[in-house]
Amino acid sequence: MPPRYSKLLHCLNIQATWQFVAERLNQAGIDDASREATIVLQHVTHQPPAEFFANLQRMLLPEEREHVEQILSRRLEREPLQYILKSACFYGRDFHVDARVLIPRPETELLVEHVLTRAPDLPYAVAPRMLDVGTGSGAIAITLACELENVQVVAIDRSAAALQVARANAAKHMVSDRVSFIQADLISAIGMQVDAIAANLPYIPTADIPGLSAEVSSFEPRAALDGGASGLDLIRVLCLQAPTLLKPDGWLFLEVGQHQAAEVAGLLSDVPIWTATDVLRDLRGIDRIVVARIRRHTAQ
Ligand SMILES: C[S@@+](CC[C@H](N)C(=O)[O-])C[C@H]1O[C@@H](n2cnc3c(N)ncnc32)[C@H](O)[C@@H]1O
Repeated sequence: MPPRYSKLLHCLNIQATWQFVAERLNQAGIDDASREATIVLQHVTHQPPAEFFANLQRMLLPEEREHVEQILSRRLEREPLQYILKSACFYGRDFHVDARVLIPRPETELLVEHVLTRAPDLPYAVAPRMLDVGTGSGAIAITLACELENVQVVAIDRSAAALQVARANAAKHMVSDRVSFIQADLISAIGMQVDAIAANLPYIPTADIPGLSAEVSSFEPRAALDGGASGLDLIRVLCLQAPTLLKPDGWLFLEVGQHQAAEVAGLLSDVPIWTATDVLRDLRGIDRIVVARIRRHTAQ
């Protein structure tokens, strides 16, 4: 039975409730407790930031108090706030997320940023075709479709449950006509040539998963995390498969884990079909994105 806080929250105004929530989260060792408390109170009171800060003295309604209690109980069990609120922000847009999909991360926004930067340079830049392999919530595919008005994206996932979430997100962002969804193992089921492949596949080594934060190891889908013994099982296969689908001059964009970029870049630069292999850092200075381009003439 989760703890209840009715007495403690009784008669508290928004500001005092915010303080109470922030303290409880902080005591539980949750990073960013103040920010999370603000998100919880804004969510529960349905107030945009400007109004929220102008109304801090307002008393919470009984149903709002109840809602805060429910959220706090779940969060203290380490369930990620994004799953509780069914919402994650990615590239400035709101995505529905729940336990069926990985919560999209800021590192992946960087992957999208690099795809967008190179979009004018794609083989058929006017109306490119792209693949998002391991689409999860659809964050990459849908963002690309929102940002590039003529792009067609095929979003692939092995998980039917993840694809349900991704389809709903595509409808929400009104790009269902330009993003199609396929349940498949990597790109084996795709029969067309594409200008770019983007992938944020599972890359955590199996043995490292229990050591991740409870938010990740106990709540995010195992199939979205587990990259096999080395972490690179799926990425290695995709590197081998990608040349069969990429047009000459097409690009491959891969998100990788800490300490994996050199190995992945090596896998690609060792094969002469690839050129312009590059590694890009995330905001923490970690080598995070591996980019490679197929040679123009692929005589074999
Ligand atoms: C790390 S999550 C990334 C989700 C999303 N692209 C993002 O960046 O937030 C990896 C996704 O790959 C999917 N996946 C795992 N193995 C796969 C495979 N063999 N073929 C296709 N998708 C796979 C998982 O179901 C999961 O949704």
